[in-house]
Amino acid sequence: MSLYAIGDLHLHFGSELKARSQLHDRVWKDHEQKFLKNCRKMLSQEDTLVLAGDHSWGKNLTECEKDLQFIADLPGRKILLRGNHDMFWDAKKTDRLRELYDGKLYFLQDNYFSYREYAIVGTKGYTFEGPFYLNAYHQICGWDEQEEEHAKKLVEREAVRLRTSLEAAKQDGYRKFLLFLHYPPTNILEKRSAFTEMAKEYGAEQVIYAHCHGERRFYDSIMGEFEGAEYRLVSGDYLRWKPLKIMD
Ligand SMILES: [Fe+2]
Ligand SMILES: [Fe+2]
Repeated sequence: MSLYAIGDLHLHFGSELKARSQLHDRVWKDHEQKFLKNCRKMLSQEDTLVLAGDHSWGKNLTECEKDLQFIADLPGRKILLRGNHDMFWDAKKTDRLRELYDGKLYFLQDNYFSYREYAIVGTKGYTFEGPFYLNAYHQICGWDEQEEEHAKKLVEREAVRLRTSLEAAKQDGYRKFLLFLHYPPTNILEKRSAFTEMAKEYGAEQVIYAHCHGERRFYDSIMGEFEGAEYRLVSGDYLRWKPLKIMD
């Protein structure tokens, strides 16, 4: 029995492809098939796979159905986190998805799942991603402050959701946490955030995130040991479509 994670599959079996990189970058060529082959080789029915958001390019549930079925057909228990591109998933209507995919897919939103003595907790997260203004040396010399204000509100909302998830697990007696986010825990300017603080507060052992894809973005946020937790990026192209083993 093992726990794996990967994010940013950006499937489009039933919708239009919206990213140029998926057309031109080699890593994205037949990425669904590469991923499927790796999953079949690595995962068994006893394993758990956390999919850390941006599952599909579909604009609504109908356009995402084939993508979700592709995920449902993978071996093991599949736990899904919301990504910024997941238009099929309104956080407030998660129960509807739970009913529709009962026994096939598990949705991580204001709840938690257990894995051995650990609680798998998480939320989409958020971080300010600019626009940033650069000087002649390509150093950041300013940013859109209005956007930054807006981002602060979204971070606050996501922090509340993450606490709800953590508290639900804590109430049930869990003391060990694996924390999942779609967005990176910090942006390129930050050293800490509401999410790193919460990881520290609850003593999360690992913080696993996605969203940073394309080689230029892989190192946008924290990686490795930081304030007692291990931070790990699991975006699909970073992992070359091979799910990362989080724990045995
Ligand atoms: Fe993505
Ligand atoms: Fe994303």
